[in-house]
Amino acid sequence: MACQATLLVTGATLVTPVGAFAADLASADGRWVHVGPAGSFGGQAAQTLQADGLTALPGLVDVHVHFREPGVHAHKGTYASESRAAAAGGVTCVLTMPNTNPFTDSPEQLEVVRDCARQSVIDYGFHFMASGDNLDAMLAVRNVASHKLYLNETTGITSPLADESRLRDLLATGLPFMAHAEGDTLDMLLAVHAQWGTGPLHIGHVALAREVEALRRVRAAGQWVTGEASPHHLFLDETDAARLGPLGDMRPTLKSAADVAALWEGLADGTLEAIATDHAPHLLSDKQRVPAPPGVPGVQTMLPLLLDAVAAGRLSLQDVARLTSRGPAAIFRLQGKGQVTCGADADLVLVDTAAEQTISNADQLTKPGWTPFDGRRVRGAVVRTLRRGEWVYADGEIVVEAGGQEVVVGR
Ligand code: DOR
Ligand code: ZN
Repeated sequence: MACQATLLVTGATLVTPVGAFAADLASADGRWVHVGPAGSFGGQAAQTLQADGLTALPGLVDVHVHFREPGVHAHKGTYASESRAAAAGGVTCVLTMPNTNPFTDSPEQLEVVRDCARQSVIDYGFHFMASGDNLDAMLAVRNVASHKLYLNETTGITSPLADESRLRDLLATGLPFMAHAEGDTLDMLLAVHAQWGTGPLHIGHVALAREVEALRRVRAAGQWVTGEASPHHLFLDETDAARLGPLGDMRPTLKSAADVAALWEGLADGTLEAIATDHAPHLLSDKQRVPAPPGVPGVQTMLPLLLDAVAAGRLSLQDVARLTSRGPAAIFRLQGKGQVTCGADADLVLVDTAAEQTISNADQLTKPGWTPFDGRRVRGAVVRTLRRGEWVYADGEIVVEAGGQEVVVGR
């Protein structure tokens, strides 16, 4: 019987981590049912999109975002607002952070977060707070991507976990962890994990050359540690921090040109397996306070910046697919995410690699409506975003009301 599809995308060049070809991509019931060369789909499709001249990438999986709901920070961003910005940036799945106010540190509070997340237009999952004194909650909670350790001060974190014996007890549980740990603190954490850790440890927003080197060393020794880099640490440095003031302030802060170069090397040699935004919305009025809260938005600008880096020869489109979809989905075991293969979720982003645009505050769909990249000219633009077989963004508009679902985390 000929295959019945809901949607056929034909003629785009599909880029995966291992190759690129002009493709026929057909989906039904939210999953890919045919992935083959252009012209190879022999079935019927209810809707066909002719995508000649466009490039198709797996939908981006951004494993580090702050969507602020529920609680007192919700004026900075919500699942509705920030997921729309993400969809406009080609992101089809996010993992949200637990430094909400109140923290996401109990099974009950996670249910409140889950209720908010139903407003998302893209798929989502959750990182849970590992506060150091909520181990029972960590063991009870279901379907979380990781337990987040905050070892440095940042938004909402005034007393970071510093106690080595507590870290030892946590890491010995074998649960999956993610950490905010900078410099000396990262060295300490890696040493404790080397001795006591029995599960995976992911390091958020690696920013210093010495941190890349530390990860390279422990990974070579077989330690179960992965790392990510954030776009602001790849595309801005400390000279931009001086120019941008509070709008260029985040944790970790912007670093030197040598540190930036080390991050690019870490991405190229596989030391860092993901790029994730650390999307941290704060209103302009929040940023005008003294001291201003650290953090910058990023979900809508990550892919245009990376496409521009491809145009400049800094990495390949295949690298982009590896670092923004397959890599991050694999680190957190996100079922059906991160690849365009039969049976996987039909998540896709169509981009025009030749389109030039100027990133501007006026185009940002985030609640804050500003970006540290305002005014930057880039080559490459997002044209359409498909989430589980449904267009969520097309030609400049968000075209759905909600429809995001919680991703299943493998164990
Ligand atoms: O700059 C940052 N802002 N770094 C973080 O680790 C947290 C984030 C936030 O939540 O605002
Ligand atoms: Zn963060």
